[in-house]
Amino acid sequence: MDLSVTSTELTTDAAISTSASAATGASVFIPTPGTPYQEDIARYWDREARPVNLRLGDVDGLYHHHYGIGDIDRTALGDADDSTYEKKLIAELHRLESAQAELLLDHLGPIERDNTLVDAGCGRGGSMVMAHQRFGCEVEGVTLSAKQASFANRRAHELGIEDHVHARVCDMLGTPFETGQIAASWNNESSMYVDLHDLFAEHARILAAGGRYVTITGCWNPRYGQPSKWVSQINAHFECNIHSRREYLRAMADNRLVPQAVIDLTAATLPYWGLRATSPLVTGIEEAFINSYKDGSFQYLLIAADRV
Ligand SMILES: C[S@@+](CC[C@H](N)C(=O)[O-])C[C@H]1O[C@@H](n2cnc3c(N)ncnc32)[C@H](O)[C@@H]1O
Repeated sequence: MDLSVTSTELTTDAAISTSASAATGASVFIPTPGTPYQEDIARYWDREARPVNLRLGDVDGLYHHHYGIGDIDRTALGDADDSTYEKKLIAELHRLESAQAELLLDHLGPIERDNTLVDAGCGRGGSMVMAHQRFGCEVEGVTLSAKQASFANRRAHELGIEDHVHARVCDMLGTPFETGQIAASWNNESSMYVDLHDLFAEHARILAAGGRYVTITGCWNPRYGQPSKWVSQINAHFECNIHSRREYLRAMADNRLVPQAVIDLTAATLPYWGLRATSPLVTGIEEAFINSYKDGSFQYLLIAADRV
């Protein structure tokens, strides 16, 4: 698979990242086709530097852009008046975010060292590193953001795993991966930026027959009727377009992806949001998540599907 491109084909940001990766020997980027919407999203993530993402990642070098699941360890948090409380709170939020990624990896099925995995919408690469550390295999990530790809490749280089973990700037709806060669692929909170039929057609193309696709995503609940005002607020905040649970299942069925597990993580993510809402790292969107999870208009789902 030849992924090389000339620098004249690259956007300015991607070209900057290419020289950064040349310095680390980390990766080669391919150009982003770039609808105007995708250019907005690339800009959003290029500029994104919220403490809630960076300070949590600094805990152990795994940088996530997703939410957490599981019960809060109150013993680990200790007393809120203690001078070390903020540091402990950040570590606890990060632990819950890593637990979310572990659950996603649990659903990829048996993965061999010579397999290749694809992280569609890989962000700063935390899940990719975890996948390689667990399975010892190759992990390829795609993101619209040159800054994120560069960050992920720098981390892989620092960890000495740059031969196994690569990020590139690329639209996940049209990846350079060969047809039928990928053992498993996933979207971790990145499917709300694209048309689901186009997305699942691309996963179905790259996955081997019998391969596994997993998504963890927020979706609006058809039982509520239509997207609630909270869901609309979340869309505006992240410039995304949250789909319904029904749309996920229908688009999978239309693209040879047969759900093997559908897990409602809504109750499991609420403790994370409650803790985050009390932290100095609030971003202002916490209330919309908590209210929409509680009124039933929004759900946090894991769907694992077999490529048939
Ligand atoms: C909320 S972040 C999730 C990052 C990562 N999956 C994680 O769990 O930390 C959303 C990601 O989706 C990516 N994204 C959105 N639309 C995309 C597209 N069309 N192609 C590739 N990546 C896309 C963004 O660049 C960003 O990295």
